[in-house]
Amino acid sequence: MTEKDFIPQSNISYPKEGRIGYKAPSNIALVKYWGKKENQIPANPSVSFTLDACATRTVVTFKEKTPADEFSFDLLFEGKPKEDFKPKIETFFNRVAVYLPYLKKYHFTIDTSNSFPHSSGIASSASGMAALALCLLEIEKMADATKEDSYFDKKASFLARLGSGSACRSIKGSLVQWGKHGGLESSTNLFGVPYPHKVHEVFKTYHDTILLVHKGQKTVSSTVGHNLMNGHPYANSRFVHAHTNLDALEAVFASGDLEKFIGIVESEALTLHAMMMSSTPYFILMMPNTLQIINAIWDYRKTTGTPICFTLDAGANVHVLYPEDYKEQSIAFIQEQLVQYCENGHYICDKVGQGAKKLDLK
Ligand code: DP6
Repeated sequence: MTEKDFIPQSNISYPKEGRIGYKAPSNIALVKYWGKKENQIPANPSVSFTLDACATRTVVTFKEKTPADEFSFDLLFEGKPKEDFKPKIETFFNRVAVYLPYLKKYHFTIDTSNSFPHSSGIASSASGMAALALCLLEIEKMADATKEDSYFDKKASFLARLGSGSACRSIKGSLVQWGKHGGLESSTNLFGVPYPHKVHEVFKTYHDTILLVHKGQKTVSSTVGHNLMNGHPYANSRFVHAHTNLDALEAVFASGDLEKFIGIVESEALTLHAMMMSSTPYFILMMPNTLQIINAIWDYRKTTGTPICFTLDAGANVHVLYPEDYKEQSIAFIQEQLVQYCENGHYICDKVGQGAKKLDLK
């Protein structure tokens, strides 16, 4: 498929008004997306677990307006106007306008909220952009009955990607791959696809407990971090490394080999942060408590043999990953030894989920 396949036919008759809602989850990358080209094209492929509890709920009300000459929307966050979110939405509208040519025909009220606290340090761009993309695309879905659901799933992911790269992995499925990889037909830079190879049962119920080490705003945004991969001295070897790790994960996902899984996932997390530490300018997003947690996980794993590991996003928080069969001892370990390193003792228990859902608004 190419970008052109997502431009709708011009003879569709769109509804005059309506109201749509979607809940979209966050996701946690196992092989990280870090570095991008023009038009939100990733520099390397990535794969992520779709989460469940961490999600954004967005309700969009739309009504026809004249003239249809510019974008018009109000933005509410948790029921209250939120002006500082508007520029990001405006940028998103501009990027997707050619694929959603009806956007200027309507005035929108976008009402959005997150399941996790706003000041948790958890990025809401993936779940937020996925939920918004789904709501806006639903208008086309209402108008065009000729297209199949699979087309709309791809287009939702394609649109979400234009809002925030990682958002394209928050539409469908428990394990999602985004980015062209090897000769695999189904993999593409344009949208996320359900992981195309065999996946062992153990990975379908994996847990992710997110330890909130630092709940404030990050010092460097992901967008700035991605750009610092341009001209980065280790960029090319990093991008090759991501492909190598995805190749290695194929056998791991199929067999359920947790030792190898842990080796790849932790190395990916530390490589992501190593890229930040070796860019120009360089920066560090981990905090002393991030390292305390990592060391405590390594000690606990070594002494007990529990297959528990960590990954990191672009911040100080730690995602602690463990299989369902080890849930009890892992939670006890987290509470006894790791929660002391969380800001105000806060953490979120999440697990692998199935993707976005349409809300029943009646
Ligand atoms: C470290 O998707 O937030 O979480 O495309 O600029 O919006 P933009 O970046 P974003 O980057 C996410 C980076 C990451 C790794 C990942 O999720 O793969």
